[in-house]
Amino acid sequence: MTEELNKILADFQARLAEVSTLQQLDEVKTVYLGKKGPITDVMKNLRSLPKEEKAAVGQAANVIKSQMTEEINAKRSELEEAAINEKIASEWIDVTLDEAPSKIGALHPVSTIQYEIEDIFTSMGFTVLDGPHCETDHYNFEALNIPKDHPARDMQDTFYFDNGAILRTHTSAIQVRGMENIKPPFKIIGPGKVFRVERTDASHEAAFHQLEGMVVDKDINVANLINTMKTLLSEIFKKDVNVRLRPGFFPFVEPGFELDISCMICNAKGCSVCSQTGWVELMPCGMVHPNVLRSGGIDPEEYSGFAFGLGLDRLVMMRYQIEDIRHLHSGDIRFSGQFK
Ligand code: PHE
Repeated sequence: MTEELNKILADFQARLAEVSTLQQLDEVKTVYLGKKGPITDVMKNLRSLPKEEKAAVGQAANVIKSQMTEEINAKRSELEEAAINEKIASEWIDVTLDEAPSKIGALHPVSTIQYEIEDIFTSMGFTVLDGPHCETDHYNFEALNIPKDHPARDMQDTFYFDNGAILRTHTSAIQVRGMENIKPPFKIIGPGKVFRVERTDASHEAAFHQLEGMVVDKDINVANLINTMKTLLSEIFKKDVNVRLRPGFFPFVEPGFELDISCMICNAKGCSVCSQTGWVELMPCGMVHPNVLRSGGIDPEEYSGFAFGLGLDRLVMMRYQIEDIRHLHSGDIRFSGQFK
């Protein structure tokens, strides 16, 4: 009988050694210690044993039963501990780890220069105006002395909508709206994005930025225009800049000029930005045409004025020595990240 009990114990230990989950452990427990298990059988059979053996077998069966219970409990603790360790290992968080460095954005260089120029002009008494990107033919062309059949429209071909609206080709549209809303004398600027049909290259983009300026008062003349432009440029570049004035045609000014500055990319030696001339066209300008004043409700006999347009993208290129205007709209953060 004792032999049989030892065999039961050996079988049990062999099965227990293979147990690797709590569920398997419960199964083994039921098989060996349950109501239908071999130990229960032995106990049930005690009655049929001779008296002398009864006590000895009963005792041995109890010893083995408690040994099995102990081994099961030990195995249970072992499995539970392993489960906890596994959980700790898989859910481990390193709370000392630094968070990923956050990326701090910055203004686009065109915006930066626009705000700087706005500051310069407001310090000179100018008011900053805004206008819509999507304009009517009237504000963009007609009121600026560019009637439907005027060849100047060719130079400013743009994007047309079915309803006749267009994407503005210049910020001059803002001066028309300004004249409608403000009584002279006034000094205004209107910065913003403008659009043209362009064959893009290093110095031409289909969308770019201008800053329009207009001064209307009594007895305004070309000397006032030149002085304002020179003051502006020396403020922007923080040094004296070489400029030249050439006659230039714009239907809305008379006389009209092109103000060029010497190329700062190549120090006037000649490069792709200045088309090898050493000069960069920066500010078209001139005395406001009487027709324009008239269409803005201003009497040209009483008032005169000057107007100018500044290419903001060009200015940025000159200041940071950027050789291709297309970088400005590339959206490449390796480019824009340099202007923090
Ligand atoms: N609006 C003109 C252009 O975009 C520039 C300009 C503005 C010229 C003001 C003269 C006076 O080409």
